[in-house]
Amino acid sequence: MAILPILETPDPRLRTISTPVEAIDDDLQRLIDDMFETMYDAPGIGLAAIQVGVPKRLLVMDLQEPEEEDGPPVRKPMVFINPQILDGSEELSVYQEGCLSVPEQYAEVERPARVRASWMDRDGRIHEEELDGLLATCLQHEMDHLQGVLFIDHLSRLKRDMLLKKLNKARRAA
Ligand code: NI
Repeated sequence: MAILPILETPDPRLRTISTPVEAIDDDLQRLIDDMFETMYDAPGIGLAAIQVGVPKRLLVMDLQEPEEEDGPPVRKPMVFINPQILDGSEELSVYQEGCLSVPEQYAEVERPARVRASWMDRDGRIHEEELDGLLATCLQHEMDHLQGVLFIDHLSRLKRDMLLKKLNKARRAA
């Protein structure tokens, strides 16, 4: 396994529209393993393939939520290949979002609170489930990446400019 470099905004590759995965082969399995290692190392809770420069409709997530309140985080890796959102609730929810491609910057984004989604896992099994909470938000955030969209695109121009200014300031200080 390997830790892959994560593309950061304003890298134009992040604006690529990813294309469907056509075969779940050894190369894809290796990419999935590398994406998990990269995501855990960062650390983050979601990573789309395009964030490591691969324009395929593939993403990995692990909310790493503790099993009991205040307990240690428990790993529960999830792989989404060719995910689709079939339906979204009218009810919206707001989460403070961040992104490994927009390092250390966070902002509230409003999205459908629940989504019905379908996807293939790493064994090629098809899932169709209704997701809610952070899982629903994270999937929508990661699926945006497959369309070349970043969470900052959901903000007002004023908020986005402020956030990017802070990012540039942090980069200069580093
Ligand atoms: Ni992201």
